[in-house]
Amino acid sequence: YVNFIIAIAGGYLLGAIPFGLVLTKLAGLGDIREIGSGNIGATNVLRTGRKDLALLTLIGDAGKGGLAVLLARYAFGEQAALLAGVAAFAGHVWPIWLGFKGGKGVATYIGTLLALNWMVCLLFCATWLIVAVLRRYSSLAALSAAAAAPVFAYIWSGVALSAACAILSLILYYRHKDNILRLLDGTETKIGGAKAANG
Ligand code: G3P
Repeated sequence: YVNFIIAIAGGYLLGAIPFGLVLTKLAGLGDIREIGSGNIGATNVLRTGRKDLALLTLIGDAGKGGLAVLLARYAFGEQAALLAGVAAFAGHVWPIWLGFKGGKGVATYIGTLLALNWMVCLLFCATWLIVAVLRRYSSLAALSAAAAAPVFAYIWSGVALSAACAILSLILYYRHKDNILRLLDGTETKIGGAKAANG
């Protein structure tokens, strides 16, 4: 089991790198946690007006999930890869460096899925895109994709990936609880809009 522990620890540490926070700080934009929704993810980085940084945040936060999976697979095989992916997601959501207060997990979910099963990732992204285009809410798009992911994974992969997706989706829903409340009372910000409230 030492292999699994290394895969989990490595995945967690990779996942805990907060790209949105680091990139916006390097760009002199201050603390992203005091802007918009207060989240460290690409959607909130977009609220600073810097599309380039938002894209880099998306690539970084997704890439670290994918890299964690690929490294663990190369070193220890498929089971370790799955564990490393879940650990990277947990690292992004609960990073040790930020007092365990990290992001909402959408980008890291996508990167992890891409390395685990690209078809499931494609279906996740397609769901996100369709809802985002139709409704213009990043959070609603993510919540829809996360709800469908365990089903996609069950069909295109099997029970193991489906169970992993169910865990990630539950965490994602928990981290979106403020977004869910805002969606319900009609105060959620649409993609590209600025937001005053924190959370
Ligand atoms: O990717 C996170 C997104 O679903 C919501 O982000 O900043 O609007 O809370 P935000």
